[in-house]
Amino acid sequence: STILILWAVIGYVMGSIPFGMVLARLMNLGNLREIGSGNIGATNVLRTGNKLAAFGTLVLDGGKGAVAVLLARLLAGEDAAQLAGLMAFVGHCYPVWLGFKGGKGVATFLGLMLALAFPVGALCCLAWLVTAVITRISSLSAIVAAATSTFWVVFIGPGAIFLLSAILTLLVFWRHRENIARLRDGTEPKIGQK
Ligand code: G3P
Repeated sequence: STILILWAVIGYVMGSIPFGMVLARLMNLGNLREIGSGNIGATNVLRTGNKLAAFGTLVLDGGKGAVAVLLARLLAGEDAAQLAGLMAFVGHCYPVWLGFKGGKGVATFLGLMLALAFPVGALCCLAWLVTAVITRISSLSAIVAAATSTFWVVFIGPGAIFLLSAILTLLVFWRHRENIARLRDGTEPKIGQK
């Protein structure tokens, strides 16, 4: 329906705001494309050495996913909330403003999951954190967190987000294909390393 299309567009536009890039410019941290992985996310912002900018990127990229979900749910219900969350993720990964070359969606994924189904989102954050503490590798933590999301949904629900979580998991893996190649080669840097 028209309402769902509207929330898909709103979700996409919110998700497509590249906060990492915005903060890096505002704080004169250089061109993210020429730093580390070239990615626009918090992990790569941290490679500039500025922890505050990295934390801000994490919170804002996660926040836009959460706000898209909560706004859509409040004004148009659960289906709109799911669609807005998915499209915020898509917007972050494929922003029209950056020639569709965006980020890997991890912070946005965690933010939208926390808003959509808090226990599932919290368990994904925990999976990210545990993997990060053990391995110190951001990309590995991300793909573990995404991969576990579908299991959490199966075990604790809600079943209504099963398909969404499966799609998001596949997209997170797809967006990390270069990281996965580096993980296989053993050349993926640890958190904070260039
Ligand atoms: O948030 C993306 C993260 O999982 C990997 O980022 O810069 O190491 O490719 P990066």
